[in-house]
Amino acid sequence: MIASVGVGGLALAVAACGGTDTVQPAGNAAPAESSAPQAGATQSSAPQGGGTALAKTADIPVGGGTIFKDQKIVVTQPTEGDFKAFSATCTHQGCTVGSVEGDAIVCPCHGSQFAIADGSVKNGPAERPLPAQQITVEGDQIMLG
Ligand code: FES
Repeated sequence: MIASVGVGGLALAVAACGGTDTVQPAGNAAPAESSAPQAGATQSSAPQGGGTALAKTADIPVGGGTIFKDQKIVVTQPTEGDFKAFSATCTHQGCTVGSVEGDAIVCPCHGSQFAIADGSVKNGPAERPLPAQQITVEGDQIMLG
């Protein structure tokens, strides 16, 4: 008898807490919504710095390329004025490619080679091409994105 009364009391206490909790989140939702327009304002100023400057066009040899290990990107210039960018992460087992030799991007780990023109596999063991990366050339600057 005594025990069952105790349980009933607990149930009432839980119900009361639940009621209080549903009020609080509703109160917190308003400040969260009011911060959304601020995020929009930040985005509207972004186009000025839309891409990160990666290199100058003069840094990329014609008929070759340059590897940017920090950004894990290789930028190539297969023909003068034609810039391409690829992931520098080898599609074989994930090493960062190590050098550009002639028209090939070379991975030092197992010797895979990728074409500077389109990232396609020239030599295995890699079987998949290096994925292309988006770059934009503005004047003599190469921008990421
Ligand atoms: Fe590049 Fe194996 S990880 S060849």
